[in-house]
Amino acid sequence: MKKKITIIEGDGIGPEVTRQSIHVLNAIAKFFKHEFEYSYCLMGAIAIDKTGDPLPNETIESCLESDAILFGAIGHPKYDNDPNAKVRPEQGLLKLRKSLQLFANIRPVTTYSSLHHLSPLKTRNIEEVDFVIYRELTGGIYFGKKELSADGTQASDDCVYTVDEIERIAHLAFQAAQKRKKHLTLVDKANVLETSRLWRKVIQGLTSKYPDVSVDYMFVDNAAMQIILNPKQFDVILTENMFGDIISDEASVISGSLGLLPSASIGKGAALFEPIHGSYPQAAGKDIANPIGSLLSTAMLLDHLEMHTEALLVRDAVNWILSNGFVTKDIDPVNFYFTSTIGELICDYISGNVADSGKRENIELRKSTII
Ligand code: IPM
Ligand code: MG
Repeated sequence: MKKKITIIEGDGIGPEVTRQSIHVLNAIAKFFKHEFEYSYCLMGAIAIDKTGDPLPNETIESCLESDAILFGAIGHPKYDNDPNAKVRPEQGLLKLRKSLQLFANIRPVTTYSSLHHLSPLKTRNIEEVDFVIYRELTGGIYFGKKELSADGTQASDDCVYTVDEIERIAHLAFQAAQKRKKHLTLVDKANVLETSRLWRKVIQGLTSKYPDVSVDYMFVDNAAMQIILNPKQFDVILTENMFGDIISDEASVISGSLGLLPSASIGKGAALFEPIHGSYPQAAGKDIANPIGSLLSTAMLLDHLEMHTEALLVRDAVNWILSNGFVTKDIDPVNFYFTSTIGELICDYISGNVADSGKRENIELRKSTII
């Protein structure tokens, strides 16, 4: 198959983790005889530096013409601590989500037995944790009217949702639940917020269409607690934009590192794949970032292109490296491998070069010598 992929490396560690994913896509293309055509585009702080605009029009155009988009990370500290900044890197990502109508953000949370010890939670609480968050991505407080009074003493952000916006992501979440453990949890704040009451009403109205899915409702403050106390209880979590942003970062620590989790943002046409971690500027350029979040996002991208065997092979490769202790510094600060080495190992696995051949010695040579 021939596919067009827009690559947006973005800021901080974005370029180095995305580069590993491109190596892996090339290995997949070679092994399965596909052709991936990449176009590289700018977004974020790097785009502001080069063009003055966090999302140049060429980037939107390229995304619209692509079969999929692979994105790295966004953000730079020079904007984080400057509330007066006129342009911010994140505006690029928000505008891209809106322009491409990427209304559903899908964030799977899985755990790996070889990494259980890294989780702040007790092993018995995280064994078999496997849930997915469906976060609404183009509505709510993120995109409501924003105002700052002329004298600068009052500010507001509106939170607005329509029935259509809720229904379109709810259908996706219900369908996902049907293919999984058939359990959907709506996370909201219906005891306080009008928008949350609308979410409940819409979901209650849809339950008859999905009689095989059991539905429960949880206030977001309780959900934040339950994700830590008993994460096994969840299968599909459906929630609005802001709550989804917060609980997905919270959920990511269950697996042991924020660097492990992938995401897919899908909508009407194009689809975008990105690790959920941020730009981690302190690590940028040091070859120490964890590329797994990006690699698993690449697996989601392959699934989206209907390349399921290919996606499975990438996931197998990730399981193989994690269970063999080939991990980056966030996971093992003493005995770690470099970002690029993990990428090479995954490519070797995909090309069938390491599976049984006992190349351990060669691999050891690629280990960090910083220790
Ligand atoms: C995320 C990020 C973004 C968000 C930022 C970078 C705008 O935190 O994708 O979760 O808040 O949606
Ligand atoms: Mg976030």
